[in-house]
Amino acid sequence: MELEAWDVDVRDVIRQAAARLRRAVDEGEPVAALTGAGVSVESGIPTFRGGGGAFWAGFRSEDLATPEAFRRHPEKVWEWYHQRRQFVMSAQSNPAHKALAALEAVHPHFTLITQNVDGLHQRAGSKRVVELHGSLHQKRCLDCGLISPIPPDAEGVMYCDLCGGVARPHIVWFGEMLPPHAWRQAEEAAARAGVMLVVGTSAQVYPAAGLVEIAAAAGADVIEVNPEPSALAWLARWAIRLPAGEALPQLMRAAGLPTEP
Ligand code: OAD
Repeated sequence: MELEAWDVDVRDVIRQAAARLRRAVDEGEPVAALTGAGVSVESGIPTFRGGGGAFWAGFRSEDLATPEAFRRHPEKVWEWYHQRRQFVMSAQSNPAHKALAALEAVHPHFTLITQNVDGLHQRAGSKRVVELHGSLHQKRCLDCGLISPIPPDAEGVMYCDLCGGVARPHIVWFGEMLPPHAWRQAEEAAARAGVMLVVGTSAQVYPAAGLVEIAAAAGADVIEVNPEPSALAWLARWAIRLPAGEALPQLMRAAGLPTEP
């Protein structure tokens, strides 16, 4: 079979990016990854801006993912989040999540930062995940602030395990600040990274997208993994225009690194 010029080009990009990644691993240089909804597409979870699935359709998230909505209808908001949690629990992690977990396992100076709330990175074996937008699997007490896990089969309004106060989903809603500790960790990791992987994010939502700018400004080599150019594609030294579930295992293999943890 003859190769299209495009295939040769993608392979060349992967080869160069892999060599850079390998050098970082060999030299103990910090590597960061910022992931977005695209990394979970091959697990069957739709993105926010790409259409491509029925799950979020039918819900106007702007109407439910707000503190005002929660004050007015906590039971409705919880019902929506319980459904979302059940949905992601029925999904499986994919080769993209696994490749990132493998990178963490071989490189102690790797920081995985995600905008996703689905928990699929952890299910693939990632242990140190900075969750910028919270998690579908956690609740936060409105009274004492305790963050605790939601039992898988939970229903209805949730309460704090410690003080009994009303708890809300531990999710960043429209107009809210990011969890300060997570943001600090992410900012530091972006600023020190020699290589930054930007995987499956449209890079349109700030402050998360700003991490790519922080990394690039500090001199990191940015590797974008996305079938489509993100808003910050121009900052990328290499852009691998393939689905993450194909691109990341290929990148790891080309770097001589494992594809699973
Ligand atoms: P978006 O829906 O904005 O972007 C998804 C990106 O994934 C797009 O750039 C797609 O091209 C890309 N994509 C699609 N399929 C892919 C695949 N198989 N492999 C790799 N990439 C693929 O999602 P995010 O950038 O994550 O915030 O959105 C950021 C934030 O906006 C979300 O975390 C959410 C939302 O408002 C909060 O909930 C706070």
